[in-house]
Amino acid sequence: MFKTIVVAVDGSEGSKKAIRYGAQMQAQYEGELLMLTVFRHHSLLEGSMSMVRPQTPENIDDAMRGYAREVADEAKVLAKEAGATRFRAFIKSGQPARTIVKFSAEHNADLIVVGSRGMGDIEGFLLGSVSHKVTSLASCPVLVV
Ligand SMILES: Nc1ncnc2c1ncn2[C@@H]1O[C@H](COP(=O)(O)OP(=O)(O)OP(=O)(O)O)[C@@H](O)[C@H]1O
Ligand SMILES: [Mg+2]
Repeated sequence: MFKTIVVAVDGSEGSKKAIRYGAQMQAQYEGELLMLTVFRHHSLLEGSMSMVRPQTPENIDDAMRGYAREVADEAKVLAKEAGATRFRAFIKSGQPARTIVKFSAEHNADLIVVGSRGMGDIEGFLLGSVSHKVTSLASCPVLVV
C-alpha cells in the first residue's frame, strides 16, 4: 500500500520522529524510504542578509548545502537504527513545502511523512507552516507525526 514513502527531514526532533515512523513503515511494506532535506538558495532569503557579516552568495549557498548534507547524513543513520532496509537521502534547494510536494510527485510517492513541528519552535502554534502547506498541496496522503 505505502511502497514509496517520502520523509521530510529538517534536523528537528519532529522530523526525527517522522523518520522513525517512515523507517518502520518502509520495513513493514517492503518499499522504499526517500528522505528529503530542502535548503534555501540565497536568492530566496529575504533582505536580512545585510545584517550579518559580508559573505558572498556562493559562501552562503555552500554553507546551506553543507548543513543540509549533514542533516541528510544523520537521517540515514536514524533510518537504519529504526529498522529501514531500503532508504536514500536527498538534498534540494527551494521553498520547502513546494519542493517536498514536487519531489514526492516526481517519485510517485504513496505517502509523505512530516513532523508536526520543525526547527521553528515558536510556542503556541499547533502546526508548522511547512507541514501545514504540505498537507494542503500534496496529492497523496500525508502523515503528520
Ligand atoms: N527545510 C525542510 N526540509 C525538509 N523538511 C522540512 C523542512 N522544514 C520543515 N520540514 C518538515 O516539516 C515538519 C514541520 O516543520 P515546520 O517547518 O512546518 O515547523 P516549524 O519549523 O516548527 O514552524 P515554521 O517553520 O512554520 O516556523 C518538519 O518536522 C519536517 O518534517
Ligand atoms: Mg520550519
